Amino acid sequence: MPTAYEITKQTLLSSPKTWLVTGCAGFIGSNILEQLLKLDQHVVGLDNFSTGKQRNLDEVETLVTKEQWTRFRFIEGDIRDLAVCRQACAGAEFVLHQAALGSVPRSLDDPITTNATNVSGFLNMLVAARDASVRRFVYAASSSTYGDHPALPKVEDTIGRPLSPYAVTKYVNELYADVFARSYGLESIGLRYFNVFGPRQDPDGAYAAVIPRWIAALLRHEPVYINGTGETSRDFCYVQNAVQANLLAASVENAAAVNQVYNVAVNARTDLNQLFALLRDGLAANHPELAGFQPVYRDFRAGDVMHSLADISKATRLLGYQPTHTIGQGLSEALGWYTRNCDLTTLR
Ligand SMILES: NC(=O)c1ccc[n+]([C@@H]2O[C@H](COP(=O)([O-])OP(=O)(O)OC[C@H]3O[C@@H](n4cnc5c(N)ncnc54)[C@H](O)[C@@H]3O)[C@@H](O)[C@H]2O)c1
Repeated sequence: MPTAYEITKQTLLSSPKTWLVTGCAGFIGSNILEQLLKLDQHVVGLDNFSTGKQRNLDEVETLVTKEQWTRFRFIEGDIRDLAVCRQACAGAEFVLHQAALGSVPRSLDDPITTNATNVSGFLNMLVAARDASVRRFVYAASSSTYGDHPALPKVEDTIGRPLSPYAVTKYVNELYADVFARSYGLESIGLRYFNVFGPRQDPDGAYAAVIPRWIAALLRHEPVYINGTGETSRDFCYVQNAVQANLLAASVENAAAVNQVYNVAVNARTDLNQLFALLRDGLAANHPELAGFQPVYRDFRAGDVMHSLADISKATRLLGYQPTHTIGQGLSEALGWYTRNCDLTTLR
């Protein structure tokens, strides 16, 4: 039996659509772009390179055919500018809105810029998508919306109070999308990503996510810091699972599946001590000097939740979502990519 994702990909291949991917020069956006182009889709990309990189687009170009690349049109611009959003939405059937300023600590350092991008920019995108009569608006929501609610696993309907400005912005996205569905009939689906990782995720900078940051530190023989005791746990989600969720959300025809939010993860919990061991042992195969490498423990970080684990049954039931990669399968692809692409000099 083919999966819903396999059927969706076949359908798209035989009947290409026009997509707008915002944040296409970033980590998740560039992986979505790559998959869409490999399915012969027409894609407009929008990014202001605030955290995204030209090198991500250059890499996608090397991974698709020349003909597929001609179906991509890039707009360098900012979602805080409504005119830019209108230009990008013109002619799009589906919008996959990924552009935002990620990172809990960044939002604690600079809540104003985070809000301008993630709330005002998001609202601009909704207005532009509504006025362009797009068929569906799929957007990156976040597991941070569960906030301080202690229940595990996380079920979509039960959230707590946000623990950071970033979490507020991502919750506001859901509220706005819901109001646009009820007020203007704009179809939307929110995807609450849980700690996504994989190729092209930036290992550098103060706000880098834990997996690329640790891989880079290990390859550079720099200290790996664990905030807290290492018992903090997450439902780490390989980026191909997030790509799948986007394509399914855009394509699903069941009316009950639309105007909803979904957890996007694997439903498996890994704590930071286990994650460190997986990364160190995975890299030690090619870097034997890392075999005995030990992490450095320091204080727990403000704004972080202690445990996170997703119930993914809603996405499975209504979207046909079935993760293709466990954390182990994802890490072996991701480590391969970092080892191939990031030698000690380019990582710096
Ligand atoms: N990576 C995760 O684990 C994770 C978890 C939950 C939610 N998300 C959400 O997924 C989306 C993608 O995240 P990512 O991890 O790929 O991050 P990323 O930083 O790699 O990508 C975000 C992209 O958006 C672009 N962008 C930012 N501000 C913009 C603006 N004002 N105008 C135009 N483009 C702008 C950036 O340049 C970048 O290319 C974000 O909405 C993020 O909040 C990510």
